Amino acid sequence: MSGSDEPRNIRWEPGYVDLEHRERRNRHKPLCVWITGLSGAGKSTVAVQAEKILFDDGYQAMRLDGDNVRHGVSADLGFSERDREENIRRVAHVARLFYDFGHIVLCTFISPAARQREYARGLFSAGAFVEVYLRCPLEEAERRDPKGLYKKARAGEIKDFTGIDSPYEEPSAPELTYDTSALSEGDVVAQVVAEIRALTAR
Ligand code: ADX
Repeated sequence: MSGSDEPRNIRWEPGYVDLEHRERRNRHKPLCVWITGLSGAGKSTVAVQAEKILFDDGYQAMRLDGDNVRHGVSADLGFSERDREENIRRVAHVARLFYDFGHIVLCTFISPAARQREYARGLFSAGAFVEVYLRCPLEEAERRDPKGLYKKARAGEIKDFTGIDSPYEEPSAPELTYDTSALSEGDVVAQVVAEIRALTAR
């Protein structure tokens, strides 16, 4: 990012260390890996495993997780359409900052609206952003219910729950799609990691 914002008297402060320096040290390019899908589809699970494999292999890899981000950066936001949009706006910019510092950023947000995902994509140049759709039928996500949230949503204890009383728009053209109800966790992780290795090779 660069440029100035004249009306607000702010400008972008450049540094001496640029992305090329970081890439050379890391021996790989940065990448924003945007993982979308229903709650319970396996986003966090896949990202946690991929992060570990990449980190152990010397990659500068880190995660931005929906639940974690909502403890701080988005602690003031709920799950209305407007709040989700603001949540995604914030985390997409955070992802872009980490990208600028050379990281492979694994983003795990439901990001239910196509518009939200397009906003995130719009912050990156072509090839720097890859959308990964972890497809999982609602019935299967609900059967897993790892956090017991679907049960609460069905009981009316949680409002605006994605898939129940809040919509999820399936991605129309994600770079990668994996059906987590048909593939094993290990297979999905291995394939995601292989794609990341290829996309970040210098
Ligand atoms: S997003 O829609 O703004 O992208 P995000 O990924 O940050 O959502 O947060 C989703 C997580 O918050 C879920 O994994 C779940 O643990 C929790 N959660 C709590 N309430 C809701 C809700 N109403 N809808 C979806 N997820 C919820």
